[in-house]
Amino acid sequence: MKATLVNRVHSTIDPANDHPYLNGAWTPMMEEWDAEDLSVEGSLPRDLDGVYLRNSENPVYQPLGKYHPFDGDGVLHSIRFRDGKASYRNRFVRTEGFVAEQAAGRALWSGLAEMPPRSERPGWGAQGALKDSSSTDVVVHAGRALSSFYQCGALYQLDPQTLQQFGPADWNGAFPAEGVSAHAKVDVSTGELLFFNYSKHAPYMYCGVVNAAGKLTHYQPVLLPGPRLPHDMAYTRHFMILNDFPLFWDASLFDKGLHVARMHDLPSRFALVPRPRADGTAVPDTIRWFEADPTYVLHFVNAWEDGDEVVLNGYRQRCPMPPPLANAPRPYAMLMAYTDLHSLKPQLWRWRFNLRTGATHEEPLDEGISEFGSFNHQHAMQPNRYVYSALGEPGLFLFNGLCKHDLRNKTRQDVSFGAGVYGSEAPFAPRSGSGADRAEDDGYVVTFITDMNRDRSECWVYAAQDMGAGPLAKVRLPARIPSGTHSCWAAAAEL
Ligand SMILES: [Fe+2]
Repeated sequence: MKATLVNRVHSTIDPANDHPYLNGAWTPMMEEWDAEDLSVEGSLPRDLDGVYLRNSENPVYQPLGKYHPFDGDGVLHSIRFRDGKASYRNRFVRTEGFVAEQAAGRALWSGLAEMPPRSERPGWGAQGALKDSSSTDVVVHAGRALSSFYQCGALYQLDPQTLQQFGPADWNGAFPAEGVSAHAKVDVSTGELLFFNYSKHAPYMYCGVVNAAGKLTHYQPVLLPGPRLPHDMAYTRHFMILNDFPLFWDASLFDKGLHVARMHDLPSRFALVPRPRADGTAVPDTIRWFEADPTYVLHFVNAWEDGDEVVLNGYRQRCPMPPPLANAPRPYAMLMAYTDLHSLKPQLWRWRFNLRTGATHEEPLDEGISEFGSFNHQHAMQPNRYVYSALGEPGLFLFNGLCKHDLRNKTRQDVSFGAGVYGSEAPFAPRSGSGADRAEDDGYVVTFITDMNRDRSECWVYAAQDMGAGPLAKVRLPARIPSGTHSCWAAAAEL
């Protein structure tokens, strides 16, 4: 491996802190690396050709008040696979907030766990006063990696391979003032970016479409009864699927500067918003709403149309408002519960919305706890058979293994990373040259690994058809990287 330390950012985090999300596998890194010809244990398949990108919440300054693991500054990790070799880079996303704090030499914005915020400057996000840390999600659209923030903000653009930074997307001056939420979707069949945002002001939500040339072609309101906290969206050939779940802020506390989310006695609602045709043909502008049992969903997996029905898969939480985590340090017990999969108890679930009758049918696809799913995107908007989910370490926002769901046979196969070894959201990477004519699971599942036993990080590549055999390849990274959240796979043709 030829590794070059490119930069070390200024940091003031007290190494003696006791925060569960500033220590252990969440210990932030302050270095930016370029590494070529990475060492491989096992062998890298030559038909793995593309980039695995992952975002991370990676704070650099001693927080103003209590740190929440969603506050950290965005760091993109990029590993490029080609011809049986791999190279790696990581970079802090140069957000406006990151640059301002580096100039000040300290934190200027407080985070989600501070109510009201103690921020010293005006901020961003649906609740306001937060730093747009761009650390939540990453997708690749029109050849650019776009990092995003869960509470709506800019889309920061980077080259997916070199991580060269191009600043926030502007869309020729049309970028919405309300920002864009994490979990914008790329429809690779049309090249479109589908997105939504939300705010505390009527109409409370918008959705839109950016074409393959980076031009905003559609932006429309989705009127809600009040401020909501949507996190993800889904899409089919003809619809964007947005949501209005009953977990949202108690608006009566806004005057006190408080943003406290709680479950309300309301159904879950899903909006089917007709997608404008790429050729400009008119479509009906009527939004269809469907009701379902109350829950909260952080992430959806896929959706498609089936006759009169629209089918949606996602992770329904059995316990969207968990009690404080038992045996947790008291100051952190609430935030630890809301980031613990075994407290929220998400399970893979299916909703079917009947466009003819207006009825919703819903059913579990799996009884076990899992979240942060991926699937073969060549099967997007079609009834896909396989889903690859992350498994949670009880009590901590860490992934201790992966699970392959077979939705046809209603079975699942779990693989553990081993004690003290944690992974990332793991996208499916189709074998290069493979298309929809190949088996849906003909490809690889890729994850970054933080190994606390050996104080190192690797990227593991599994054969999706035989995950039980363990990784085909373990690719050594130049430094131990902290745990992180969302990721994506971009095939060579998308770069
Ligand atoms: Fe997310």
